Amino acid sequence: MSFAKKLLQWFDLHGRKNLPWQHPIEPYRVWLSEIMLQQTQVETVIPYFKNFLEKFPDIQSLADADLDQVLHLWTGLGYYARARNLHKCARQVIDEYAGVFPDNTELLETLPGIGRSTAAAIASIAYQQPSAILDGNVKRVLARYHATAGWPGKSEVANTLWQHAEQHMPKKRCRDYTQAIMDLGATLCTRSRPACSICPLNAGCLAHQQGNPADYPGKKPKKILPVKTVQMLILKNAKGEISLHQRPPTGIWGGLWSFPELETEVNAKAHIEQHFGSVKQLDKWDTMRHTFSHYHLDIIPVLAQIGEKQLAENKHVVQEGAKQLWYNTHSPAAIGLAAPVKKLLSKLI
Ligand code: ADE
Repeated sequence: MSFAKKLLQWFDLHGRKNLPWQHPIEPYRVWLSEIMLQQTQVETVIPYFKNFLEKFPDIQSLADADLDQVLHLWTGLGYYARARNLHKCARQVIDEYAGVFPDNTELLETLPGIGRSTAAAIASIAYQQPSAILDGNVKRVLARYHATAGWPGKSEVANTLWQHAEQHMPKKRCRDYTQAIMDLGATLCTRSRPACSICPLNAGCLAHQQGNPADYPGKKPKKILPVKTVQMLILKNAKGEISLHQRPPTGIWGGLWSFPELETEVNAKAHIEQHFGSVKQLDKWDTMRHTFSHYHLDIIPVLAQIGEKQLAENKHVVQEGAKQLWYNTHSPAAIGLAAPVKKLLSKLI
């Protein structure tokens, strides 16, 4: 039995047939629901869909509305570009198509907010066209069924999945088939712990045969971040206090307190001796990595017990206007500390 036939048999018994946009099924309602369902769960969408339809029962009323009214009703659904495009699309359908949505993906795809998959959903559900969709749920079902490796954000992977989607698309019962493959992805072929034992497609599913459905679809590759290195000077005075200075208000750790920093090329011992007189003891600790969204910062902590000549006499090493203090680890000041600073200070106690 074909993929489509098995799926349709399953749909007849277990598919979702009571969603608000299914009663009645007509293009305006299908379009509205598909836009709302982009990146948003069914349960979240349902009340918004009902509310929207009460205020804007047809495409003319939506096209006549102010954008502000539309955005107001959209509040809480997120991705507000969708609402702006929705409004623009309504006006375009009124102006260019006399208020009737086109029935094919080529024209639907030219409208604001309608991509390839949404166009296919509207064409198949509203107009019974054999147009295959490929939304997040369907990508998962097909990646598993065919054991298609790789992240679907890559065009080769997406192209392969589109080919599979089109190959399975039946010529009849197009509406039910589209709903069925979405429903299977949402209810059985879920991201974690898919219910393979009761899946109608398990006999032909390669990922199921391999025993690793959770490996599909492939994950987005982690970005390789550049690495920066810095020395942090943990300067301890005769009283056991540590020198901290406040960082500028903008940039990393803006306004937080941190250790004086030194480029890795600079000889820390010579630098400290030059600015603070004698160095009684100097220890380099293991490098500590702190990761920001855009880079790793490898911190080389340099602990130095400094002599009598103290920071107050050495204003030139402190940035103009910057605040400096001696931090007592046993009665700490109520100041904001950068995360790695906090960690390093705790090692001193
Ligand atoms: N997600 C996108 N379109 C959907 C639909 N028609 N039913 C359920 N979930 C969906």
